[in-house]
Amino acid sequence: MSIEHAKSIDARGPLACVVGARPNYMKMAPLVRAFAARDDLPPVTLIHTGQHYDVAMNDRLFAGLALPAPDLNLEVGSGTHAVQTAEVMRRFEPVIDEIKPSAVIVVGDVNSTLACSLVAVKKRTPIVHVEAGLRSHDREMPEEINRLLTDQMADVLYTTERGAGANLLREGIEPSRIAFVGNVMIDSLLHHRHRAVAPQETLRTAGADAARFGERFGVVTLHRPSNVDDPAALSEALVLLRDASARLPLVWPVHPRARGNIQRFGLSRLIAGAPIALLEPQGYLEMLGLLAGARVVLTDSGGIQEETTALGVPCLTLRDNTERPITVEQGTNTVVGRSRARVLACLDDVLANGGKQGRVPELWDGRAAERIAAHLAGWLETRVTAPEQSRAA
Ligand code: UD1
Repeated sequence: MSIEHAKSIDARGPLACVVGARPNYMKMAPLVRAFAARDDLPPVTLIHTGQHYDVAMNDRLFAGLALPAPDLNLEVGSGTHAVQTAEVMRRFEPVIDEIKPSAVIVVGDVNSTLACSLVAVKKRTPIVHVEAGLRSHDREMPEEINRLLTDQMADVLYTTERGAGANLLREGIEPSRIAFVGNVMIDSLLHHRHRAVAPQETLRTAGADAARFGERFGVVTLHRPSNVDDPAALSEALVLLRDASARLPLVWPVHPRARGNIQRFGLSRLIAGAPIALLEPQGYLEMLGLLAGARVVLTDSGGIQEETTALGVPCLTLRDNTERPITVEQGTNTVVGRSRARVLACLDDVLANGGKQGRVPELWDGRAAERIAAHLAGWLETRVTAPEQSRAA
């Protein structure tokens, strides 16, 4: 980091930690804990943009992760990507003016990550991006655009796998800005694993017939626009799930986007009567129990590819690509696409042979947030002293 590039910061301003949507919470919780444990770091101000607002997608997750209630909620709610991003920006700018943070800490790739970074960079407030450098190389995914742009703006980029650092270098990011620290999402998983809720209990609480699902079940999650926004793609996905459930009962915590579209397009009949438990979005400890107890997971999520790798549970990713290649190279993940014949063939193989035996990737050891906190303390220290040195010279 050159002194010219250094932005003016108030060294005593808080760390503005931003969350917006569900996958952010499990990444931010260990960071908030690790930051609070060090007296050489400024205090945390936790800011929720309000991108996700359902109790099921929000409060239950905060409680399960022991994430403190946000200091501020910007309450942006849903909207088109442009409206949601713009609304976060409009509401985040006065927050920066008011609290004058030492740095803005953003995680992952959701619209809130990009929006807050855009505000911070123009306010000359340092940006710290946790989970930088992941690339699907698919610009149809809104998250890919969010990742590319956030990384261009960030001052410090923490990566979860070595390939992410290579992606950043290819995009012209200075090596001194990148640190490979491991995976904060896995910090959460290891921290809370002993508290995971038993799947049978989750099913009973949801009013599902737990006996019908026994000890042998698969877990499904689907929410990507490419799978659930188009009626043809969603129909195809539902027929696939119906056929899969004939081989193995399925438990599906349904994202509001998918639930809304199934109703809107009139597609419930495609899975009516099939052994598929349709649940509300689950809390963190419930989801952890379901994933850990599953024979196989069918998903289009990013984070679940990592969680299944850490748990050693086979994962079939219903997408054409992944931004997390280490889960395929070393973990239990297989990117199967969306062809029904191929997915069912892979599922049959998992059921017959047990699926991929992976290993846990380097530094996915539950201590990534501690490493980030230690690195960040050192980085902020150099930022405070650098302008003085330059004045003295
Ligand atoms: C967002 C993230 C995605 C992440 C996902 C996890 C972006 C671009 N996408 O997608 O990376 O994997 O969250 O859930 O930021 N809705 C509710 N209640 C809520 C939130 C959303 O009903 O609390 C419904 C609304 O109908 C909304 C739709 O879900 O329009 C989509 O929500 P949005 O936050 O825009 O995107 P996600 O699909 O959740």
